[in-house]
Amino acid sequence: MTEAVDPAEEVVRVRVPAKINLALRVGPVEDGYHRLATVFQAVSLYDDVTARWQRDGETTVITRGREAHLVGNDHTNLAWRAADLLRQRCGGDWGVALTIDKSIPVAGGMAGGSADAAGTLLACAVLWDLDLDPGELRELGAELGADVPFGLAGGTAIGTGRGDVLAPALTRGTSHWVLAMAGRGLSTPEVFRRFDERQPEPPEPEVSPELMAALSSRRPADLAAVLHNDLTDAACDLRPELAELLDLAPRVGALRAVLSGSGPTVAFLVADEAAAVDVHLRLKAELGSEVECRRVHGPVPGARLLQTP
Ligand code: C5P
Repeated sequence: MTEAVDPAEEVVRVRVPAKINLALRVGPVEDGYHRLATVFQAVSLYDDVTARWQRDGETTVITRGREAHLVGNDHTNLAWRAADLLRQRCGGDWGVALTIDKSIPVAGGMAGGSADAAGTLLACAVLWDLDLDPGELRELGAELGADVPFGLAGGTAIGTGRGDVLAPALTRGTSHWVLAMAGRGLSTPEVFRRFDERQPEPPEPEVSPELMAALSSRRPADLAAVLHNDLTDAACDLRPELAELLDLAPRVGALRAVLSGSGPTVAFLVADEAAAVDVHLRLKAELGSEVECRRVHGPVPGARLLQTP
């Protein structure tokens, strides 16, 4: 006979990856959002969401980590809103105490807030024993933010619509990256506004056949040739030092550098794991302690349950 678990004792832990955009094409605005054609890749930099049962139907959030002070612990936190949305839609009065161990930079262009929301949706669905399939969770995620469905899905995926309509992309092998994460975040709406000023009538966005071919090639140089982000000029207008950072790629031995999302994180693609070690050291020497550099690889899976002790 198995012993019944006291819900008050139950703990669910979920690990969620950051994303980078291998390509980001930005099109016209529809209902306040730009139509996108993007390729997301989930990389090995994670936030961990721990959910504990609370009896009183309340949601509380504690955030830990170097940048914890930059996020709110109330409804301004997308994780809080994720728990609230799930409770409302499933019609219960369950509570949850969330603890978020943050490694993904805040406002870094790597969908850290969306990752926390994705992790919270999965953690609460398990904690509250809800009968939801992955598709339903993704639909709820899309209501919270355009990048939330990808936080649940992970891997490498083509995103269209607002970036929330996903199709898995065929990739071969593992890509190695060095991330340069500038200390100060950039506001996504501000970068999109600057994009609109620079280009009021952008063409319909699409993912090129060359990019699709490069994704399924095992040669990192093929992928390097097609990395692209339409928000680069807008982000560099707001943060001119980003242009210098992107130009560093050949000097530090990387194949290519690309801005992730609306920035300011820059992802340097390297040939293999050994090259990543060299490029990491050279970037750290160039950039000093102001900019945190990390070696990561992708693709990795989306939000997944961790064993609890
Ligand atoms: O989806 P999320 O809430 O992260 O987006 C933040 C803001 O970024 C939006 O309110 C919008 O101003 C801008 N955005 C956009 N087009 C997209 C995604 C985001 O204009 N496809």
